[in-house]
Amino acid sequence: MVGPAAAAPAPGAAGPALDAAGAALEIRDLEVVYAGVILALRGVSLRASSGRCTAVLGANGAGKSTLLKAVSGMLASENGRVLHGGVWWDGQPVHGRSPLDLVARGIVHVMEGRRVLRHLSVEQNLVIGGHAAPSRGELKRRLEEVCDTVPILGRLYRRTAGLLSGGEQQLLVIGRAMMARPRLLLIDEPSLGLAPKTVDQVFELLDMLRKRGMGIVLVEQNARVALQVADDACVLENGRVAIGGSAQDLRENDDVKAFYMGLHASGERRRLLETVVTRRRRDFGRALARSERHEERQAVA
Ligand SMILES: Nc1ncnc2c1ncn2[C@@H]1O[C@H](COP(=O)(O)OP(=O)(O)O)[C@@H](O)[C@H]1O
Ligand SMILES: [Mg+2]
Repeated sequence: MVGPAAAAPAPGAAGPALDAAGAALEIRDLEVVYAGVILALRGVSLRASSGRCTAVLGANGAGKSTLLKAVSGMLASENGRVLHGGVWWDGQPVHGRSPLDLVARGIVHVMEGRRVLRHLSVEQNLVIGGHAAPSRGELKRRLEEVCDTVPILGRLYRRTAGLLSGGEQQLLVIGRAMMARPRLLLIDEPSLGLAPKTVDQVFELLDMLRKRGMGIVLVEQNARVALQVADDACVLENGRVAIGGSAQDLRENDDVKAFYMGLHASGERRRLLETVVTRRRRDFGRALARSERHEERQAVA
């Protein structure tokens, strides 16, 4: 679910109750600033829950990665700060918590750029992802489970991660995240720089995880592929939600088609928000003219 939420409560206030599906992430009216001066998010609200994929779309610099960092606790290491609003998980406020604490609560962030540990093997990368497993037996179970779900990782088990292809590395970083048994996976631009066939493999895996009940927040510039797997979606523009709704609504939205799916007829490339505002103004102008004509006719009669 995406869309405007109620006014942000004071930090520390109770958040929403668990949704029917179990876990609920709620971001309310979030404002984030870097270095005290760069306002990267300007009042973003968004919800995500178990078994659903929420896509966050938008151009470079829109604030997509910042949104994920605000959820996973990574802002502080980049001199970023929440100015207003916040993030609730399972009804608890979690803004300001450390990344480790959030991993322990089931939120795992796969950062942009396929950050494998290049000199280590696939196995070692996976083991590091499962470092918090309560026992060796549990770690082994998780390794088997990941290799069952992503068989290519089993085949590449002893290979050096830095020598894998881009697609294999992307599957590895998702596999490493799976080792922590996340309930919510935050994933940043998984399709970037990959061939279409490889992109399909990555999205098939995300779809499988979603069907198994994992919540996914998927950041993508590639709206076409993201909207195929997502249940809900929003477009960020200049730190604000320009459009939000079901993925189907966005797939059918002419502005999204025009600006983010490369289907624009006129070749015009104005910002989405501008277009939406312009259209609303135009529709309002037409409605006003209609009502004035109506009043004139009534006056004459
Ligand atoms: N570590 C940082 N320090 C300062 N400004 C940043 C930092 N990270 C991102 N920004 C700025 O915040 C805005 C949003 O960036 P980002 O969230 O990375 O956008 P996106 O992921 O949509 O490309 C941009 O203006 C960017 O320059
Ligand atoms: Mg980014």
